[in-house]
Amino acid sequence: MMKIIRAKSYQDMSRKAANLISAQVIMKPHCVLGLATGSTPEGIYKQLIDWYNKDDIDFSQVTSINLDEYVGLTHDHDQSYWYFMQKHFFQYINIRPDHIFVPEGANLNADEVCRNYDRIIQRFGGIDLQLLGIGVDGHIGFNEPGSAFELGTHKVRLQESTIQANKRFFAHEEDVPKEAYTMGIKTIMQAHKVLLCASGTAKAAILREALYGPVTPQVPASILQMHPDLTVVVDQEAGACLPQEDADATA
Ligand code: F6R
Repeated sequence: MMKIIRAKSYQDMSRKAANLISAQVIMKPHCVLGLATGSTPEGIYKQLIDWYNKDDIDFSQVTSINLDEYVGLTHDHDQSYWYFMQKHFFQYINIRPDHIFVPEGANLNADEVCRNYDRIIQRFGGIDLQLLGIGVDGHIGFNEPGSAFELGTHKVRLQESTIQANKRFFAHEEDVPKEAYTMGIKTIMQAHKVLLCASGTAKAAILREALYGPVTPQVPASILQMHPDLTVVVDQEAGACLPQEDADATA
């Protein structure tokens, strides 16, 4: 079942999504969160940190298993997703360091990294809530168009459009990694709940295609239509092409 929640602004989207994550942690303090990097969740993490500081949320029993990581980047590389998560979220909250997982980008043995990661997800009993952003080409995690739906964690070559979108974070375009480790669509679909967030005009068309178009590997996010518990939080711009009848009333 899909539920669409419309937010007024990026900040409002962030607060609404943070509320759902917070509810998950309150309902199940030892839950497993599947977390994402990128511009979309930054505001969500800010909001959660704020509530943590007000003693409204406790991460001491939470496990976090991130979606993806660039191949070849070490933890201390400022563009690694490990670094991103520390910088934007983990350093401010009381999550246990041994409960933080991001695919091991520095390990070039892809089979080992991917096998280990799938084992970790299993060991912790699967993902309770998976937070996702969406790429302009419809990717989720680093599952680019054409990715098989039945994959677990695997290594991918990044699409040219993704390299272009990510180059803003690197000094030179040639520094942008060309490969990544990512949870597969199978892994994502096995999460008990999926929370997809999108903000800004650039996401409006792909969001409509993903949520209302045909389910096809050409639009990886389209598989989410088949997820039994999908919540989508959009700001006004990202939601502009979605049918109005799905709109939740927002003040
Ligand atoms: C990040 C990830 C990506 C992003 C997507 C959207 O861990 O897996 O799929 O969610 O590229 O990125 P932003 O939020 O920067 O628009």
